[in-house]
This record gives sequence, C-alpha cells and structure tokens, in this order.
Amino acid sequence: MPSDNGFQRFEGTPGYIVSGPLVDAVNCAIALERPLLIKGEPGTGKTVLAQHIAAGLEMPLLQWHIKSTSKAIDGLYVYDTVQRLNDSRFGGGNVADIRNYIKLGPVGKAFAAETRQVLLIDEIDKADLEFPNDLLRELDEMRFTIMETNEEVAAKQRPVVVITSNNEKELPDAFLRRCIFHFIEFPDPMLMRKIVAVHHPHLDAKLLDQVLIKFYWLREQKELRKKPSTSELVDWIAALLRSGLSVDKLEEHIPFVGALLKKEQDLDALQSYDSRGGKFPNRWSDLGPRYNQ
Ligand SMILES: Nc1ncnc2c1ncn2[C@@H]1O[C@H](COP(=O)(O)OP(=O)(O)OP(=O)(O)O)[C@@H](O)[C@H]1O
Ligand SMILES: [Mg+2]
Repeated sequence: MPSDNGFQRFEGTPGYIVSGPLVDAVNCAIALERPLLIKGEPGTGKTVLAQHIAAGLEMPLLQWHIKSTSKAIDGLYVYDTVQRLNDSRFGGGNVADIRNYIKLGPVGKAFAAETRQVLLIDEIDKADLEFPNDLLRELDEMRFTIMETNEEVAAKQRPVVVITSNNEKELPDAFLRRCIFHFIEFPDPMLMRKIVAVHHPHLDAKLLDQVLIKFYWLREQKELRKKPSTSELVDWIAALLRSGLSVDKLEEHIPFVGALLKKEQDLDALQSYDSRGGKFPNRWSDLGPRYNQ
C-alpha cells in the first residue's frame, strides 16, 4: 500500500511472519527499485515471501522457477519456431507475421504489463554460472529487444523483483552489486511460535512447547546431515494433530519422525540414541542457556 510519501510499503501479511530486518530489506528494494536477493536455509520461507509481498502490496505475481536447463533468454521471450513450421505445413495461423510466434516469458510479461508486478525468480543458483550475468542488463535497464522483430519491450512500471538462492553456486559480484541482499536467519523460538500460529492457530500451549523443545533439540544435534526446517515443523505438527496423540506421549518420544528427518543416516542416529537409552528433553532448560524461555 502507498504510504504518505508515496513509497510502496510492505508490512508483512497475516499469513507470513516477517522479522524487522526482512521488512526493511523488502522496503529498501522497493524504494530503490532494485532486485531483492533472498538467501536462507531450505524451508525458511524464501519462495512464499514473494507471494506475500505481492499479496501485501496488492500486485499481481509472476513466477519463474529456474531449472538447471533454464536460459536467461527464456525469461524474456521464446520464439516458437515449431508452431510456425507446423502452421506453414498444415495451414493455420498467420505465418507471415513472426510476432504471432513470440511468447513473452515471465520477465517479458512483467515489463509489458500495464500495472506494477511482483516478479519472482526462484532458485537462481540452479541455472549455469552465466545465467545471472546474462540477465544483468535487462534487470538493470528493464528493457530488451526481440531480435526477430526488432521490437523493444520496456518496462511500463518497474516490477518488484524477488530473487531466491539456496547457495548452491556463488553469484557473480557484478550481479550482487545490483541487488539488495537479505539472509533469512533461522527463526528463534519466539518468532517460530508466531509462524506456527499462522499454520496451526489454537494449538494447545503445552503441545506447542513440547513440539518446539524437540524440534530445537534436534536442530542442535551436530551429527544430523539435514536439520529439520520450518516447513517440516509445520508438517510434523499437522501429523501430530491428525493422529490425535496426547501431549504426554510427546514428552518422552518423537513420533512421526519421518516428517522431520529426511535422511536414513539421521533416522539411524536418532534410533541408536533412543536404544542407548538417550533421553529426549521435555523442558526448555534441558536445551541449555540459549533456550531459556
Ligand atoms: N515466516 C513465515 N511465515 C509463515 N510461514 C512460513 C514462514 N517461513 C516459512 N513458512 C512456511 O514454510 C514453508 C516453506 O516455505 P518456502 O517454500 O517458501 O521455503 P523456501 O525457503 O523457498 O524453501 P526451499 O529453499 O526448499 O525452496 C511454507 O509452507 C511456508 O508457509
Ligand atoms: Mg523455495
């Protein structure tokens, strides 16, 4: 929503809990009209952030999910030569006009739109190393030329660009220079309570405590290869609720652990801890001073 001085301001939405520094990063990117680069552990809400920025600002969302085979040009436009060839062989369409076979990609659509859009470029680090460099100019100048028709597509309104990365590859410095960066820190228990409340309102306070104690304890275990994340916590609680399990069952055990741990080595490690008579914590103080609630 526009504030007094005309800036678009994002303040979070009822369905997405934002920390103060994340709100600042989003608003800084909007004010400077620069892409917002979001990094963070898997499952910390990078992708859904773009959806909630769009909802919060009441702008349409265009999404581009990057694959290892994605090329920068695909985001701008695709020239559908196969369709044109088919039309010329079997009749149909106006083959003489190449423009009929140019399909704008998500970046092209965001530029061509009459109203300001939110453009998500999700998991940019999945593509090859050249990918970010190939998009630099277009994202900077917010314009590009369709070579086949020599037509220019220039942004009518500069989109709010959100780029996510899982850190699989380093991004080039020239690319980083043009972005506003934010790393989503793993939520502390206080913030996590609010996030859980979005997905599971009216959760019994005792159950929530037991769930969070087990969850943060698991995350502290050094031998785990993949720590459970926010999305796994949300799923785990859903499983617990659906099973109708009583809270006392949770005090000594971690049921439905497959919702939390996704590697057999991690499951084995937990099982052998259990069979050695290892204790699962059931008070915050069991987790040490960092977790004093
Ligand atoms: N701050 C938050 N507020 C509300 N829900 C959240 C928050 N953070 C994460 N979630 C929930 O966690 C789930 C995972 O979020 P999302 O898919 O955006 O993670 P991600 O960081 O993109 O993960 P990946 O790197 O694996 O793609 C979503 O269902 C989302 O609702
Ligand atoms: Mg994601």
